[in-house]
Amino acid sequence: MSIHKEVKKITTHTLQKMKEAGEKISMLTAYDYSFAKLIDAAGIDIILVGDSASNVMAGHETTLPITLDQMIYHAQSVVRGVQKCLVVVDLPFGSYQGNSKEALNSAIRIMKETGGHSIKLEGGEEIVESVKRIISTGIPVMGHLGLTPQSIYKFGTYSVRAKETEEAEKLKKDALLLQEAGCFAIVLEKIPAALAAEVTQSLHIPTIGIGAGGACDGQVLVMHDMLGINSEFKPRFLRQYVNLNNLVTTAVQQYISDVKDGQFPNQNEQY
Ligand code: KIV
Repeated sequence: MSIHKEVKKITTHTLQKMKEAGEKISMLTAYDYSFAKLIDAAGIDIILVGDSASNVMAGHETTLPITLDQMIYHAQSVVRGVQKCLVVVDLPFGSYQGNSKEALNSAIRIMKETGGHSIKLEGGEEIVESVKRIISTGIPVMGHLGLTPQSIYKFGTYSVRAKETEEAEKLKKDALLLQEAGCFAIVLEKIPAALAAEVTQSLHIPTIGIGAGGACDGQVLVMHDMLGINSEFKPRFLRQYVNLNNLVTTAVQQYISDVKDGQFPNQNEQY
């Protein structure tokens, strides 16, 4: 008999049950072992190894430069820190668009090499063939509609999407297509709250919103944003739960001053 306490893991079925029970789903990004361990132990339902790693970890302006190998490195680190939550890994730009065979190969690499539980890709009708092909092998897929940052050069700005009827109608159609293709959930990013509410009602799978209002079945934020690590980034949808920027700056300044003044280390901090 094992002495380890059995941990009840979150699966895609758990998320479906949560939607049916009206229980909200919590999701945050993470990109490394230490934060993934903290966030999982705090009780999060889903960790997204987002391609926002390109911005917050690597300092790129967009999500486009991050590679599949780099995403695999981040996902491997996250998976080592997780015991309970579901881990979703983004397929990066260039690893799936326009070629369903390549999409499948990329998804298989993520699953085989990282131990992650599912993948996410951006887009609707254009990627449905890839979604179906990936799901046919047993890999769970999360969709992503609305503001899809991998298409930033097509959009031109990071402003709210689908405010006009034509784009809103396409988004509703895409959401249904992704559901029919077998996605287990869909991220809705930066769209009007009323549209997100309508889409959420029309689907039997959960929606996870970011800047899409309170009617979504769950919410996701980029960890660095909600922890206030980059305090200059303050879009309207973001709630900053702590200002780590201030806390870290104060701690580092205190350390510098202690070192310079000979206050660190003291008698108890040496051998
Ligand atoms: O990469 C990411 O962090 C994301 C979230 C914003 C949903 O896709």
